[in-house]
Amino acid sequence: MKKITAVLIGAGNRGRTYANFAHDYYGDKIEIVAVAEPDESIRSFCKEKYELDDSACYHDWDELFAKGKIADAAIIATQDKDHLIPALRAIDLGYDLLLEKPMAVTPEECIKIADRANEKGVNVVVCHVLRYTPFFGLLKRLIDEDKVGRVINIIHVEGVGERHYSHSYTRGNWCNVAKSSPMILAKSCHDMDILQWLLGKRCTKVQSFGSLTHFTHENCPEGAPARCIDGCPYADECTYNAVRLYQKDRWFIGTATGKVKPTDEDIDHMLRTSDYGRCVYQSDNDVVDHQTVNLEFEDHSLVSFTMSAFNKGGRFIRIMGTKGELTAYMSDDKIKYYNFLTKETTEISVKDAVSDETIVGGHGGGDKGIVGTFAELLLGTYNGNCLSDVSVSCENHLIAFAAEESRLHGTIVNMDEYVERCRKNAAILYKE
Ligand SMILES: NC(=O)c1ccc[n+]([C@@H]2O[C@H](COP(=O)([O-])OP(=O)(O)OC[C@H]3O[C@@H](n4cnc5c(N)ncnc54)[C@H](O)[C@@H]3O)[C@@H](O)[C@H]2O)c1
Repeated sequence: MKKITAVLIGAGNRGRTYANFAHDYYGDKIEIVAVAEPDESIRSFCKEKYELDDSACYHDWDELFAKGKIADAAIIATQDKDHLIPALRAIDLGYDLLLEKPMAVTPEECIKIADRANEKGVNVVVCHVLRYTPFFGLLKRLIDEDKVGRVINIIHVEGVGERHYSHSYTRGNWCNVAKSSPMILAKSCHDMDILQWLLGKRCTKVQSFGSLTHFTHENCPEGAPARCIDGCPYADECTYNAVRLYQKDRWFIGTATGKVKPTDEDIDHMLRTSDYGRCVYQSDNDVVDHQTVNLEFEDHSLVSFTMSAFNKGGRFIRIMGTKGELTAYMSDDKIKYYNFLTKETTEISVKDAVSDETIVGGHGGGDKGIVGTFAELLLGTYNGNCLSDVSVSCENHLIAFAAEESRLHGTIVNMDEYVERCRKNAAILYKE
C-alpha cells in the first residue's frame, strides 16, 4: 500500500508528538523520512526513533529546504514566530503541510500563508487538534443530526488550569506577547476554531474583555526571591512553587528542561538558570490571565467564551438549541442531552460513540487523530468532516486577532470590515 513521506521541521515537544504518532500508530500510512532540528540531542533521538540516516538529519530548515522537495509533506512545529518563513518556503517547494497553530502571529501573515497555499494548490492542515477529538466530533455529529434543533447560544469555558498557566504563560514560551503571541491566539485560537466549526456559520461580530490581574509584581509576597530554588520563605504555601512543580510533580518537565529524558541534574540546572525556575510574580509575563469573548454569528446565534487560569483545567461547553441542549465537560466521558419534547435527560458516552482506541494521547485523542487524518487526506482515503480548508483556518485565526483588537481598544469588531482591513494591509505588506 502507498505511504506518504514527511519531513519534520522543529522536533520539539509538539513536533515529536506528531512524528511519534506517525511512527507508532500510522506506520502503514505515513513515514518520517527526515528531520530539521538545531538541538543535537533531540536530533539524535529522532535519528534513532524514526530510523533515519545521518544524511536525513538536518540542523535547520535552511539545510533541509536546500535539498529541494524530498518528501510529500512537511510537519512544521517550530515556535509561533517561526511558522511564516518555513511555511512559505515549504509551500513554494510544493509540500503539503501539517502546520502547528497558530498559523502565524499576525493576521497578515496568516492571510499570506493561506493565499500562497491556495495559489500553489497545496494542502495546509492547521493543527486545530480539537476537531479531531472524539469529544468534539460527537458534539458536531449531534448538532448536525438536529438533536438540539437550531443552535441559539453556546457557553464555552476554557479552563487553562493553574499549573499549566503558571508553566506556559508566566514562565514559559507564551508568557510575553512580544516574544510569542497574545493569549487568545496562543491558547484559544483552538476554541475560536471549534466554536465556528460546531456552529457552521460565519462570525460577524466580536467583543472581548480581559487583563493580567494576579501574576504581577504587585502581588509578589514580600521577600520572595526571584527564583523559587533560592530559599523562598513561601515555598510550602505557594501554589506555584517551581521546585515542587518540577522536582516533585515533574509537571511538563520535558518542556521545562528542553530534554527528552531529563535527569535530576538537568532539573536542578533548569531551576537555577532557566525561565522555568522564576517566581511567577517576578517574570516578564504580560499575557492576560482571564479573558472573555462574545461572538455573534450570521444567523444571530451567540457564543460566550471564557478563558481563565484560575481552575483545575479542562473545557466545558453548553450548547442551547431550539429543541434541546447539550452539556459536557471534556474531561468526562459523557455528554448530557436534554430533550425539550420528552423532558428527558440522557447521557451519551463519548467512548461508546467512537472506537475506544481513538482516545489516546494528548488533547483528548486530537493529537493522534490529526496525524491519521492528515495521512488519509494525502492518500485520498479521508471521508470525515473534521478537516478545514486553510482559508477557513485563516478566517478563524482572524476571529482571535479581532478579539485581541477589541480587548485592547474597547471596541466591538465587525468581522467583514476587519477581514477587509487585514487583507488590504497584507496586500500592502506583501506587495511583490
Ligand atoms: N496544537 C496544539 O494543541 C499545540 C499545543 C502546544 C503548542 N503548540 C504550538 O506548537 C509549536 C511548537 O511548540 P513546542 O512546545 O513544540 O515548542 P518547542 O520549543 O518544544 O519546539 C520547537 C522546536 O523548533 C526547533 N527549531 C528552532 N529553530 C529551528 C529551525 N530553524 N529549523 C528547524 N527547527 C527549529 C527548536 O529547536 C525546537 O526544538 C508552537 O507554535 C506552539 O504554539 C500547539
